[in-house]
Amino acid sequence: MAAEPVHGPRTPLAWWRRKSLRFRLTATASAALAVALAAAASLLVSVLGRALISSTDDVAYQRAREVAALADAGRLYDNSVAVSDGTIVQVLDASGRITHVTLGGDRLVPLLNARERASAPPDGRGRMVDGDQYGIPGPLRVVVVRADNGRTVIAARSFKDVAESLSTTVHMLAIGTPLLLALLGAAGWMIIGRTLRPITALRRGAAEISGTARSRRLPVPEAHDEVRELATTLNDMLTRLETADASQRALVSDAAHELRSPLASIRLQLEVALGHPEGQEWRETAEGVLEDTLRLARLAEGLLTLARLDERRVRARREPVDLGELAASMADRYDGAVVKAGTVEPAVVAGDAMDLQRVLVNLLDNAVRHADSRVVVEVRARGDAAEVTVSDDGPGIPAADRERVFNRFTRLDSARSRDEGGAGLGLAIVRETVLAHGGTVRLEDAGPAAVPPWETPPGAAAPGPAGGAPEEGRRAAGPGLRAVVRLPLARP
Ligand SMILES: Nc1ncnc2c1ncn2[C@@H]1O[C@H](COP(=O)(O)OP(=O)(O)OP(=O)(O)O)[C@@H](O)[C@H]1O
Ligand SMILES: [Mg+2]
Repeated sequence: MAAEPVHGPRTPLAWWRRKSLRFRLTATASAALAVALAAAASLLVSVLGRALISSTDDVAYQRAREVAALADAGRLYDNSVAVSDGTIVQVLDASGRITHVTLGGDRLVPLLNARERASAPPDGRGRMVDGDQYGIPGPLRVVVVRADNGRTVIAARSFKDVAESLSTTVHMLAIGTPLLLALLGAAGWMIIGRTLRPITALRRGAAEISGTARSRRLPVPEAHDEVRELATTLNDMLTRLETADASQRALVSDAAHELRSPLASIRLQLEVALGHPEGQEWRETAEGVLEDTLRLARLAEGLLTLARLDERRVRARREPVDLGELAASMADRYDGAVVKAGTVEPAVVAGDAMDLQRVLVNLLDNAVRHADSRVVVEVRARGDAAEVTVSDDGPGIPAADRERVFNRFTRLDSARSRDEGGAGLGLAIVRETVLAHGGTVRLEDAGPAAVPPWETPPGAAAPGPAGGAPEEGRRAAGPGLRAVVRLPLARP
């Protein structure tokens, strides 16, 4: 049993707010309907009453004028007047004495006294008189018409039947209107209940989702209405949450997996060393352990960076960063004989200098690691975008794998087998950062012409296999790889 909430004020407003939407909608609609029906009913009664009164008056006035015309023409002979339709007519002389009267009419007492006769409106509007005092049951409508020689014609018509039918109408309305209201209220209650049913279904669906871990969707109603839009939007949100949840799980399990091998390796090396302490090369063991520790540290660093990028996507720092300057200074930090800055134009973008520097470091690290002999970094301002390219002359990446390598923890078999590189987070960090800055990144073949002919800087020791004669020194190089980053230029 649902307990009434004990807190909160017990005012009518609070009571009203606690009621269901269905109840409130029905009650509001019914109240509005009741006001409208009552207004319509009273309007009907008043208009009907007026119309009946005026038509009764019209007939009486007509008769009175006919009799007045007869009187003026001197054609009222004996002391009675003949009127066929039940109108009672009295003709009074100047002194107020009744001279003529219709059959059954009072011969002695006029229907209106002298004051009432004097104040009677000349336009034929009548006055209500109680007929009982003249021996006529029910109310009467009485009009006055003046004739020549100070004579007055009074005509009266019974209002009894009309009044009775009017009161019947009022009674019927008094009973029928509330009945109609109740009927409409019940219909409204049903229709609103039916309309709200999809919302109830949504609520049930949502309750089940939170109760179970299985992948679930909310029921989408058939009608193409707002509730359907809500259900679809909520389902889209559920899909996104599910995807995010799945990728979080994958990340955790990948991270655990990646942590496992260096940890196992450290453990093995230490166990072997401790198991056979005699003749143990402790230095070698320490170096092996250090290498694994560095791998762990790099992994932790990469994961932290990714977590920070996820968190910061909403409120990234924006400061002007000259990519040209950044690229030139980065290239200098590497062995100048391997990494060379090609065309480097100033290109200022709005972003986080640390993040953008990390993008370059990750791309340069990859390129240097895979390059055969040379790496070229270039920065150009193209239209409204800054384009940064890092090209190497290494084996490249097959077109089919160029999207995949951006995923977290993805390392290609070649890199894995050589046990080079880290956890496979570098390119994922690059893409997240570039996207957060409103840019794009892609990988393509560098092509033989892409890396310009090597010029050994004067006095520099010729590096690696390239030596002083790079063309001959190159291994049967692959297509090379070029990473192209495009970022929107900052508006001046
Ligand atoms: N310049 C390149 N030439 C050839 N293959 C590359 C190049 N850059 C990246 N790759 C491939 O893409 C994979 C993913 O690169 P990514 O930078 O994400 O990870 P990683 O370098 O292996 O590790 P981390 O960057 O986390 O230290 C690499 O393992 C490698 O197989
Ligand atoms: Mg990398």
